[in-house]
Amino acid sequence: MSGQRVRLGVLVSGSGSNLQALLDACAREDFPAEVACVVSNVSTAFALERARKAGVTAKVVDHKAHATKEGFEKALLDTLRAANVEWVCLAGFMRLLSADFLGHYAGRVLNIHPSLLPAFPGLHAQRQALERGVKVAGCTVHFVDAGTDTGPIIAQVAVPVLPDDDEKALSSRILAEEHRLYPLAVRLAVTGKVTLDAARTRVEARATVGELALRNPGATVDPA
Ligand code: GAR
Repeated sequence: MSGQRVRLGVLVSGSGSNLQALLDACAREDFPAEVACVVSNVSTAFALERARKAGVTAKVVDHKAHATKEGFEKALLDTLRAANVEWVCLAGFMRLLSADFLGHYAGRVLNIHPSLLPAFPGLHAQRQALERGVKVAGCTVHFVDAGTDTGPIIAQVAVPVLPDDDEKALSSRILAEEHRLYPLAVRLAVTGKVTLDAARTRVEARATVGELALRNPGATVDPA
């Protein structure tokens, strides 16, 4: 089936545990996509090791090696095109992409973010959630636009914020859900079960049953 699979380019900057979740999903026979190329803007990112271990092309395009954002994005685009990438997944990629770059992959760039957007966009989303004292946190996969974590939302999972949580504990609870959510959202997007409708997304009704059920946040309430 590999010939019919959608070719993903995964952009990373760090550990790459979400990349790993995508690589693992793509290793399954019935998954509709494959990782064609991994590109990191950080040469020391552990994500590059994960890609190599999975036998996937791993490239570094260092933003610091380019005088302008345009130059950086052109190198990024050239790298993705050389690998015949059809869809782009941001997986802990910590650079903002311009509208110009996104235009080359219009409606085919996805991102995962560790909050229930539109709450807590940008850096340190989990810390922001703790500082605001929210009781429910989570993660979101969305189409990417030129804003910071502002694009149309595809899927979300909620997790509880527990009384003794610090940033590490909350981040790891959210991350476990990210690893389940990202492959699911990629499947929905590349198979056309979720489509862009202006600033919102429409998810096919039969895709929602079972696939997009909101998980119980798990907080227990004493009935008394
Ligand atoms: C993940 O929590 C991801 O949601 C977040 O960075 C982490 C990367 O971890 N992304 C953002 O905050 C983007 N705004 P990973 O490298 O282990 O996948």
